[in-house]
Amino acid sequence: MLVLGIESSCDETGVALVQWEGLAMPELLSHALYSQIEMHQAFGGVVPELASRDHIRRVLPLTREVLEEGGRSLAEVDVVAYTRGPGLAGALLVGAGVACALGAALDRPVLGVHHLEGHLLSPFLSADPPEFPFVALLVSGGHTQLMRVDGVGRYALLGETIDDAAGEAFDKSAKLMGLGYPGGPALAKMAGQGDPKAYALPRPLLNSGNLDFSFAGLKTAVLVQAQRMVAAQIAIAAGEEPPTTQANGGSTAGFDALPMAQRCNLAASTQAAIVDVLVKKSMTALKETGLQRLVVAGGVGANRALRDQLNSTCAARGVRVHYPELHLCTDNGAMIAMAAAMRLQSGQQQASKTYAFDVRPRWPLDSL
Ligand code: KG4
Ligand code: ZN
Repeated sequence: MLVLGIESSCDETGVALVQWEGLAMPELLSHALYSQIEMHQAFGGVVPELASRDHIRRVLPLTREVLEEGGRSLAEVDVVAYTRGPGLAGALLVGAGVACALGAALDRPVLGVHHLEGHLLSPFLSADPPEFPFVALLVSGGHTQLMRVDGVGRYALLGETIDDAAGEAFDKSAKLMGLGYPGGPALAKMAGQGDPKAYALPRPLLNSGNLDFSFAGLKTAVLVQAQRMVAAQIAIAAGEEPPTTQANGGSTAGFDALPMAQRCNLAASTQAAIVDVLVKKSMTALKETGLQRLVVAGGVGANRALRDQLNSTCAARGVRVHYPELHLCTDNGAMIAMAAAMRLQSGQQQASKTYAFDVRPRWPLDSL
């Protein structure tokens, strides 16, 4: 069976070919990605209408690319899969529309895939695939969830963020440090040169007794700390005593002119606060479920500090931890084709020739 997968839920157009035979693990033949990040950077975030228009431009050239790379023709595709949600409605409609048009033209069935299920199953494309059951830590730009995963389509929500996602905490903190969009990787780079203990930042809900997360308060604490640092710098430049508590009138303008070491220290302290919470809650989830296997997925799963801390904590507890390949942590078509293949292979779902597509911008994973 050959599946063509299309991802267009946000700011990356991804297309991929996955194939399998019988019960063998599906394998990735080829994948291609176009990131719109540069286009959205000028606006400090994703502009939905621009995202949709760009998906329209990229999706067919990327499809030709993966077919050529995979040495296959369009006529050989058995199923066309696309991201049905969650995501930006207009962006999702592009992938859904193209997938259904291709399906209708080729007389092949189509399958709408849950974007987070794609992330969740993406470690099955790695050299060290997990086995069911496991606890999954899903950490992306829009979601932060702990799930118990017993098999394809068997997902139970254990806890989730009650406000910002972990990726949002990275991105919003990075933005107020003048690091642009999406700031996660830039903040992580600076954090690598800083002292994670330099500033005491809150670890929200660390000891809440449940598996929920909250990152909005951390972002506010980072903002207040950044304002203090700017206010102190202004006072020092004016030959005055630096204020001990006073913030800089609500502004972080001038933060990027602070000494590099100070900026790196705040980045490192922010990253450490986020990572500490993610690691502690993951360990609690493993303890509560009695499982010995953890799967990390989503864009924040690319974070080096998170991986290092999870690796050492899991090793100390005899827990196996699995990640997607680094380049498949953020959005891509391979995970969509893979999730479709695994759903079809496991008999969880049938592809359909209805072509009357709809998209689900909001779609809880545990409702699958
Ligand atoms: O999974 P993803 O590509 O998109 C969503 O489905 O949301 O995740 C994107 C998120 C962004 O918030 C980005 O800043 C974050 O993942 N991210 C990182 C790193 N790489 C990507 N955050 C921290 N460290 C990284 N190395
Ligand atoms: Zn994603």
